[in-house]
Amino acid sequence: MDFYNYESRVNRPLMAKLSELKSSNDRLKHIIFSAQLDRELLEHLASVADMVRALSQSREGCDFLSSLLAHKRAMLYFTQPSTRTFLSFVAACQLLGLSLAEVRDPSVSSEVKGESPYDSVRMFSSYFDVIIMRSVVPNFAECCSYLMNDLDEFNHRSVPIVNAGSGADEHPTQALLDIYTIQRTFRFAHPKDSSSWTRFDELRQKYPALTRGLSGKVYGFCGDIGRGRTVRSLAQLLSRWNNITMYFIAPDHPRLRLGADLKNRLLDAGVRVHEVQSFDDAGEDGRPVIESVDCLYMTRVQQEHDKGHEADAYAGADMTRYRLNRELVNRMKDYAAILHPFPRDSRVGEIPTEIDNDPRAMYFRQARNGMWARAALLAFLFDVDGRIASRFQKDFSDFHDYNVGVL
Ligand code: NCD
Repeated sequence: MDFYNYESRVNRPLMAKLSELKSSNDRLKHIIFSAQLDRELLEHLASVADMVRALSQSREGCDFLSSLLAHKRAMLYFTQPSTRTFLSFVAACQLLGLSLAEVRDPSVSSEVKGESPYDSVRMFSSYFDVIIMRSVVPNFAECCSYLMNDLDEFNHRSVPIVNAGSGADEHPTQALLDIYTIQRTFRFAHPKDSSSWTRFDELRQKYPALTRGLSGKVYGFCGDIGRGRTVRSLAQLLSRWNNITMYFIAPDHPRLRLGADLKNRLLDAGVRVHEVQSFDDAGEDGRPVIESVDCLYMTRVQQEHDKGHEADAYAGADMTRYRLNRELVNRMKDYAAILHPFPRDSRVGEIPTEIDNDPRAMYFRQARNGMWARAALLAFLFDVDGRIASRFQKDFSDFHDYNVGVL
């Protein structure tokens, strides 16, 4: 058997692959695609993330959390640049007590001696209990999960693979933290909420139709839609909620606009999908899109994917229209959330720093949420989320829901 020939498995329809990524107890074995995260699991992971966040406020809580996986080791194999994803996984591992090691530069590994990356991954699995990986190579994380499954079949050592970004294709853990941020935002909780005043009631005076939660909301995605893996993963997860409208605000350029495969998946899931070229184009209700969105997901132009000859083709795409400014933000709904997976490109300025202190700017909280959400995911993978819930109930038995929701 050729362990390293995965082409036919990669070429199967997505739905045919999902069962292989589960373990026998129906938990997730590997995290490769956002399609593995259903709405029930996303709600569960959000509540685990909230509990990790609350427990980590005290020394005793931190000691408890860091005892949970003190017997496990994580390998971070990040051969593509990363700051937030890498560091928030490091922090998440530290919270749960996992010890870790990293390879970020294949030029200092035996790959320079001609070792295949698959051999590298199999070696990592000898020493570690989970491999968290980011690669420019599309489908590499997926193929590594097949490698692990084959090893398991032959009674060799096999460990979970977590996809921390593959090519321009998928970034499921980013989508997880994006959803977590949106869930928290649309709880409309406020530190000053009391029996006589809540922020939600106040907002409803101005927006009478406002509801809590992700359903029935209008989501805008702006910038490099065609090549942004975070947009692909997040839009698919959002489509799991009801009555969703999405605007894709991007230049009408074959590589930058919404791709047909994602569009069809969203339409099949019942999303109302609109492609527009400007924040000021009219939306479903005739109002400019910038005034209609409940959540705006900004993105960076993914120039690293440009090949020399292609770069010229983008010269015609005027990206200055896909930048926010004060005037645009002032026109957004009071409670609307501005997200960005980061890094933002300071040369392009898709979100100028003048927006950072606006209450709608959610991107720094979003990055911090990555730590809690990834800790929740690791706890779930290693089946210690139940212990977190028991401890939380014990320590916070008189804690009110509205406190948990405060950002
Ligand atoms: C994103 C990525 O790497 O895909 N960043 C991230 O993980 N936070 C988005 C980007 O690089 O533009």
